[in-house]
Amino acid sequence: MILKGKKGIIFGALNEKSIAWKAAQAAVREGAQIVLTNTAMALRFGTIDALAKECEAPVIVADATSVADLEALVDGAMEHFGGKFDFVLHSVGMSPNIRKNIPYEKINYDFMSKTFDISAISFHKLLRVLYEKDALNAEGSVLALTYIAADRAVSGYSDMADAKALLQSVTRNFGTIYGRYNGVRVNTISQSPTMTSAGEGIAGMDKMFEYADKLSPLGNADAEDCADYIVTLFSDYTRKVTMQNLYHDGGFSSMVCTPEIL
Ligand SMILES: NC(=O)c1ccc[n+]([C@@H]2O[C@H](COP(=O)([O-])OP(=O)(O)OC[C@H]3O[C@@H](n4cnc5c(N)ncnc54)[C@H](O)[C@@H]3O)[C@@H](O)[C@H]2O)c1
Repeated sequence: MILKGKKGIIFGALNEKSIAWKAAQAAVREGAQIVLTNTAMALRFGTIDALAKECEAPVIVADATSVADLEALVDGAMEHFGGKFDFVLHSVGMSPNIRKNIPYEKINYDFMSKTFDISAISFHKLLRVLYEKDALNAEGSVLALTYIAADRAVSGYSDMADAKALLQSVTRNFGTIYGRYNGVRVNTISQSPTMTSAGEGIAGMDKMFEYADKLSPLGNADAEDCADYIVTLFSDYTRKVTMQNLYHDGGFSSMVCTPEIL
């Protein structure tokens, strides 16, 4: 029970494939109390109510791009918990360009702005609201999910690659401020390709998934593996880890080639 007595908010559980869904289950298994959040649309089309019941967690609707929604969410969580809390998982991403199969070289810039707002700037907004409301206990932990396409070219990942690069930069820059303020850690986990609604929306995901699985000495990390890693980063065992992009990918990021794929 490495999260006994800890409290936090989990963004992004849409359905049982979601990384955030598994993270919510793992956090509760480890003794945490949680608040769940997602957009009104996700609540309508997803199955978060079942997770809320299982985790005995309230669901507070928030669009991560809206500062007003984030303020209401953080106020609601503090009211629910009776004060400050310890961790937040930002498991949020969406690209209208990818949704509409628009190739990178022909990108729609209004959609690109939307991609950045949802997938990266929302993390800055979230950190700012948490910081201004002084909502996190000392040595708390804030995590976002990213992908190796932020660091190396991966065809098909389009403007999400640029959004993830921005997300990782926000992590470093806000991590400096929050760490000095009260020891709050801010990190990203760079996860293997994972079969979720967001993952399956990427063109060529099936082949990419297989390729990564073969190249990685440990094979791809799935959503449950990711959830187990997430709870370690919310725990007191990782108090000095901050401003890092942490690969959780079975070794993929350190490989170039292997007989399995030659
Ligand atoms: N699936 C993969 O292969 C993979 C790999 C590496 C990183 N990631 C990242 O993991 C995170 C979670 O994705 P997932 O794979 O679990 O897919 P998912 O589709 O289950 O989760 C994405 C979530 O983002 C939410 N979201 C979208 N727009 C939002 C907004 N405006 N406000 C609040 N929430 C919003 C969706 O409702 C959904 O719950 C994302 O950041 C994704 O980029 C996924």
